[in-house]
Amino acid sequence: MKTLFTLFLAAAAFLMMAFVVPQDQKKPGPWEIPAKYKSMKSSVKTDADTQKLGKALYAKHCRSCHGNAGAGDGPKAKNLETFPGDFSDAKIQAHTDGELYYMSIVGRDEMPNFEKNIPDEEERWAIISYLRTLKK
Ligand code: HEC
Repeated sequence: MKTLFTLFLAAAAFLMMAFVVPQDQKKPGPWEIPAKYKSMKSSVKTDADTQKLGKALYAKHCRSCHGNAGAGDGPKAKNLETFPGDFSDAKIQAHTDGELYYMSIVGRDEMPNFEKNIPDEEERWAIISYLRTLKK
């Protein structure tokens, strides 16, 4: 009887922990990117001026979640259910420009849609060219 009670207590404690201890952030799963985006080409020249513009736009729109160096550690990141990713990661950098464009501008779930907030095509591509500077 005593062992049964101990077992019961252990089970109850385990169950309580499951609710009290915060769950880890979800790892982002693979994206389904429409073919017409995959093959999209940047409409801006990748030079210092473009990257400077991209950096300023990144600071305004993206840094709060993605962090200063794109490590996924912005001030809002800890409140997200899904880890926003680390832009220095070779796996993210392996995406085509068009794929990055889709993820950055169209988004999904907690990754916001920026089609309205960043209407200018050249500004969108300037951000993508800035993301390229964040690789290791
Ligand atoms: C409100 C927080 C938030 C903001 C602001 C934000 N993002 Fe995200 N971003 C996320 C989250 C969360 C994910 C992961 C979403 C998923 O995988 O479902 C993500 C994913 C991404 C990815 C895909 C990374 C991968 O897994 O390959 C890219 C690229 C990206 N964001 C670019 C941007 C850009 C560029 C901006 C600014 C224009 C921006 N994000 C602004 C939260 C944010």
